[in-house]
Amino acid sequence: MNKNQQHTNSGATGKLTVIGAGPGDPDLITLKAVKALQLADVVLYDALVNPELLNHAVNAELVFVGKRKGCYSYQQEQINELIVERGKTQNVVRLKGGDPFIFGRGAEEMEYAAQFGLQVAMVPGISSSVAVPASQNIPVTKRGASESFWVITGTTKEHKLSNDVALAAKSNATVVILMGMSKLPAIVSLFKKENKQKTPIAIIQNGTRENEKIGIATIETIEKVVENKQLTNPAIIIIGEVVNHRSALQSAIETYKQSDQVTTL
Ligand SMILES: C[S@@+](CC[C@H](N)C(=O)[O-])C[C@H]1O[C@@H](n2cnc3c(N)ncnc32)[C@H](O)[C@@H]1O
Repeated sequence: MNKNQQHTNSGATGKLTVIGAGPGDPDLITLKAVKALQLADVVLYDALVNPELLNHAVNAELVFVGKRKGCYSYQQEQINELIVERGKTQNVVRLKGGDPFIFGRGAEEMEYAAQFGLQVAMVPGISSSVAVPASQNIPVTKRGASESFWVITGTTKEHKLSNDVALAAKSNATVVILMGMSKLPAIVSLFKKENKQKTPIAIIQNGTRENEKIGIATIETIEKVVENKQLTNPAIIIIGEVVNHRSALQSAIETYKQSDQVTTL
């Protein structure tokens, strides 16, 4: 064993653990992910990760590899190379927003590391795609309102709106769109084409965080609401009758909040 190896927390070398950081609220992370952070030698973390979570990585070097306006941002190839370089002698944790396997490139990074002989593991996270609507009391499925849900990217590898949005607009499913704010006019026109002008839609920005914002409207009015409320990225778009569930419960939720500590934990 060489000098570097003796200093690793786990004692093992050649390891990558990709872990989900949840949607933003630092309490919405799994115990398994916290344990992995405690054992990390180095944590490579993304922009959507709540920095409070880094406090769990008591012995680790912390390396920001995300994209932030005005800052140097790592390319995916550079992140892959960094994982492999560090993973030769250290226990690398890759901390990603939400769930790393949902539009998170977690699978790609594991494949790359495995090609270079690293042992790899994955700790699932709470995805913003379901947790952000849920935290605003919007269920993605509900008996009588929705039998399925689609989670679609608004921005594909080619920077286009996924063709799946047009297919989803024809269905009765709840449609959840990530990374879709810049394509909102195109999304709205696809739903209008299906005569869904009155379908409810919610947009939640920075869900589960202190600076959370929400806009509720119908397909025909959402663009105005976005403009008035200045809603922008990172945001989730939820389209479907399930959005009405929130309004139906609103007064009961508010009363609960005022009388109990649980929702503000
Ligand atoms: C690259 S994807 C990563 C998704 C992540 N792997 C997950 O499972 O939540 C990033 C997009 O997820 C959505 N997102 C992630 N966290 C969010 C949050 N707290 N509030 C609203 N949208 C969020 C936004 O659409 C954002 O642009």
